[in-house]
Amino acid sequence: MGKQKRQKTRERGDLTPFKSAKQVTAQAPAILLSDPRYPHNMGAAIRAASCFGLKQVWVTGTRVADKVWEGKRIPREERMKGFSDVDIILNQRPFDHFPSDVTPVAIELLSGSENLSTFVHPENPVYVFGPEDGGVPSVARALCHRRVFIPTFHCTNLGAAVYLVLYDRLLKRQQLGLEPILTIEEQLAGEYRPALGLGWPVDDDPEFEATR
Ligand SMILES: C[S@@+](CC[C@H](N)C(=O)[O-])C[C@H]1O[C@@H](n2cnc3c(N)ncnc32)[C@H](O)[C@@H]1O
Repeated sequence: MGKQKRQKTRERGDLTPFKSAKQVTAQAPAILLSDPRYPHNMGAAIRAASCFGLKQVWVTGTRVADKVWEGKRIPREERMKGFSDVDIILNQRPFDHFPSDVTPVAIELLSGSENLSTFVHPENPVYVFGPEDGGVPSVARALCHRRVFIPTFHCTNLGAAVYLVLYDRLLKRQQLGLEPILTIEEQLAGEYRPALGLGWPVDDDPEFEATR
């Protein structure tokens, strides 16, 4: 490796929020973002994952990674300490790493999709989202067992779509008695996630810019 390349790798290594697939054990439930365009939307997905207790956000493509590396700064939401419980894994073939019992679910507003309102979330879902400027790529869609749309009149922002799906999952799990329904005191105390040792992020002032 040349001196320049070594230097660049070192810089990226210092700044990167990404892990490689080798550094983690793939586990569902998880989020998969297909070649997202904007770091702030990836940040929102990470925040959503953390809010709803998911541990992994997988990212394909390099557009967002290039922006993070070029900008030499990690967007605020990814840096926030409260969200360090979520691994961000940059990998071009995520399904090579998941066990066979996961259920990939394409989230897309396309004919043939099931309505989220009546969707029964599988036990080990990997929710696959398309980028801001397109849908779920056909290669990824072909691997998905289910296809779901969020009942909105237009496509929502990518980050918002992640929140809606995860909230729907939580609500249905609570209705089935699989998750507790907490009082505000219990929720704020973070008692529902003692194993993670999480409360609220101390510095909660994210720069969230929903552009698309
Ligand atoms: C901003 S949208 C993509 C818009 C893009 N111009 C298109 O027409 O496909 C980004 C992603 O969010 C998800 N999404 C947003 N709104 C959705 C909805 N109402 N139903 C299902 N998926 C949605 C999809 O995964 C989509 O690929």
